[in-house]
Amino acid sequence: MSSPHFPTHFLWGSATSSHQVEGGNTHNDWWAWEQTRSEGLRSVVACDHWNRWREDIDLLKSLGQNAYRLSLEWSRIEPTEGAFDQEALTHYKEVLQYCRAQNITTVVTLHHFTNPLWIRDQGGWTSTKTIKDFCRYAETVLSFLGTEIDLLITINEPQVYSFMSYTIGAWPPNVKSEAASARVMWNMSRAHRAVYQISKRLLPHLPVGIAYNMTTFEAHNGTWRERFFAKWFDLFNNRSFFWLTGMRTHDFFGLNYYFHRRLDGSRSFIPSFVDPKQIGKDTSDLGWELYPSGIGKLARSLACHEKPILITEHGLADAEDTRRPSYLKESLKSLLEAKRDGAPVIGYLHWSLLDNFEWADGFEPRFGLVEVDFKTQERTPRGSALVYKEFIEEQTP
Ligand code: BGC
Repeated sequence: MSSPHFPTHFLWGSATSSHQVEGGNTHNDWWAWEQTRSEGLRSVVACDHWNRWREDIDLLKSLGQNAYRLSLEWSRIEPTEGAFDQEALTHYKEVLQYCRAQNITTVVTLHHFTNPLWIRDQGGWTSTKTIKDFCRYAETVLSFLGTEIDLLITINEPQVYSFMSYTIGAWPPNVKSEAASARVMWNMSRAHRAVYQISKRLLPHLPVGIAYNMTTFEAHNGTWRERFFAKWFDLFNNRSFFWLTGMRTHDFFGLNYYFHRRLDGSRSFIPSFVDPKQIGKDTSDLGWELYPSGIGKLARSLACHEKPILITEHGLADAEDTRRPSYLKESLKSLLEAKRDGAPVIGYLHWSLLDNFEWADGFEPRFGLVEVDFKTQERTPRGSALVYKEFIEEQTP
């Protein structure tokens, strides 16, 4: 098998996903679920990125970035089973061609949490038929616009998806079953493996991976039991999907990093997570601990696999942009230190380029480097976008 072609320069960019920014994704399961919820929790036009994508890519470029991670909306491309929408495919081709013309490297995700309604109706990812359907969708997409893609991500955060949608039922299809959740993980791992092979057949040099949500765990009081569970959580949470797929179907590690968990075993045999606020740690608007050295630690922990590491998401909800600038800088320093020490890091993509539809939480959490006024669709880069730009300039000879 011929070796994948990775960009030779470091990728500095930011990320979005179709349903969170495009607006009007009426043919997917999220849209349908949102209609059962209150008005403020519906995606509606989101950032209207479907129409404003040029402006947004220009903005990304003007902020000194050279890479853009986006996802393709399966429900737009195949709104009904087996019927591919040429216009939607052409739309994405134009977006990708525009990026290439601007020297922006594209990282394209095939599945980022949403499914066409007809997939939902056949049992979603609990059905093995969905694997075949996902392969046909992937093959169609790759045949039509694969040459425009620089790096491919098959599935975004399979373990987050199976947990939120099938273990705790907080996301559509709102199932609460460990068995269903395990089946979804298994089916997604098979889908990933199959699409990896399809991609290698059609585009042998295209690097293929997934975006995987990894958490750093720490023994809060340093006891052997906390350390044991920290190791176990690390193995289970951070590696399980790779056990299912095997490492050979990953040309690179796509890493989404948001969480640092402190394990406290003083009150129960199985340690519980410490609330970071109660011990005076800095947190985001969503109460997630800000732990900038975690990103470098994770990169170091993956170095032994000798596969390129791409940070596919990392960021925080911070509407006032008071914590983002320093958190971003400290995190980048930690990542670059890991790189200097030998971790094969090839890029960093911040989550997110724009404020957007944050799933079940609606529009309140503000993850954007760029603020979006959802009434007027006006975009305003936050201070942190400029801090990021300066940082990139300092690193670029
Ligand atoms: C997801 C994004 C989400 C972000 C912030 C990631 O798990 O891939 O879609 O917006 O976290 O919650």
